[in-house]
Amino acid sequence: MSGLTSWPEPVVRVQSLSESGMRAIPERYVKAPSDRPSFTNETENHHQHVDIPVIDLTNLFGKDPTLHEETVRLIAVACEEWGFFQAANHGVSHELIERTREAWRHFFNMPLEFKQQYANMPTTYEGYGSRLGVQKGATLDWSDYFFLHYLPDSLRNHSKWPSQPSFCRELLSEYGAEVVKLGGRLLKAMSTNLGLKEDYLQNAFGGEDIGACLRVNFYPKCPQPDLTLGLSSHSDPGGMTFLLPDHDVAGLQVHKNGRWITVKPVPNAFIVNVGDQIQVLSNAIYKSVEHRVIVNSVKDRVSLAFFYNPKSDLLIEPAKELVSEEQPALYSPMTFDEYRLYIRTKGPCGKAQVESLGST
Ligand code: OGA
Ligand code: NI
Repeated sequence: MSGLTSWPEPVVRVQSLSESGMRAIPERYVKAPSDRPSFTNETENHHQHVDIPVIDLTNLFGKDPTLHEETVRLIAVACEEWGFFQAANHGVSHELIERTREAWRHFFNMPLEFKQQYANMPTTYEGYGSRLGVQKGATLDWSDYFFLHYLPDSLRNHSKWPSQPSFCRELLSEYGAEVVKLGGRLLKAMSTNLGLKEDYLQNAFGGEDIGACLRVNFYPKCPQPDLTLGLSSHSDPGGMTFLLPDHDVAGLQVHKNGRWITVKPVPNAFIVNVGDQIQVLSNAIYKSVEHRVIVNSVKDRVSLAFFYNPKSDLLIEPAKELVSEEQPALYSPMTFDEYRLYIRTKGPCGKAQVESLGST
């Protein structure tokens, strides 16, 4: 993990900047004009009602084979065409979701000194952080976060999880277990859709030994939301992401046909997206799609991104069944441990990394 031993500059909490009441954001957060959000486009997409697909998962868990098949098809189309969908009726208790989100709001509202005891380092990224990447002089994003390992058990360290609110650790264990269960079900649907054995993707991820981590994002109010981003454009490096967005503040934008679509969250749904590892395993039949987050001057936003990942030391490569003379393997094998060093060093870079994996 060379080069990932310390932050290149003193860490500034974006929440402190926001709460200081400053009218102009520091230069470090001002994006190049081409990366700034365009609030006119956003209005357009609301007029046209373009949004990522919403899929009701009720029948994925039901007994009716026709309805099951139909749901599986909808997932396939979403993964091929969007790399994103909103999953409603996903089986995770709404009450659990609500309580977990509130626990994290509570955490970010704790005094700075409390949160600082969890200050993270780029060696593992676990804890309270304010940047992704260690490039000196990089333009920064308008957000703070908390990152923790959920699986494997050997990496789960409860003492690195917030001790306050008091029920936070317990809730997280429960929340993680439920989301992992959902992840397993979706991997089956995806494998079937790809024409692979039902347990292909799960096995490629390490069977029971998958990795999973949680990144809770806190996007403070921003006095100049038109100049910056809460999270720069990236695709998720891992397997699959379950994003629990803020219950009343939008912010996630998905790149589609050269435009940025602002997702309108369906209450209690998860926003599910394909990560780079599934793009590789599916030999690009499923796409990990670029996304980013915009901020606003009115309300803080909290989101929970749960990353369902392959076991970190397995080689991930296109499924042999999906490789032929006409469809050669598009990516060379790599472990997820090696793969994620890139974003941990360079920060969010659109789709530059997965595109650099080309095997030819
Ligand atoms: C992420 C992410 C989106 C959001 O954490 O990888 O894309 O809405 N988050 O916070
Ligand atoms: Ni993401």
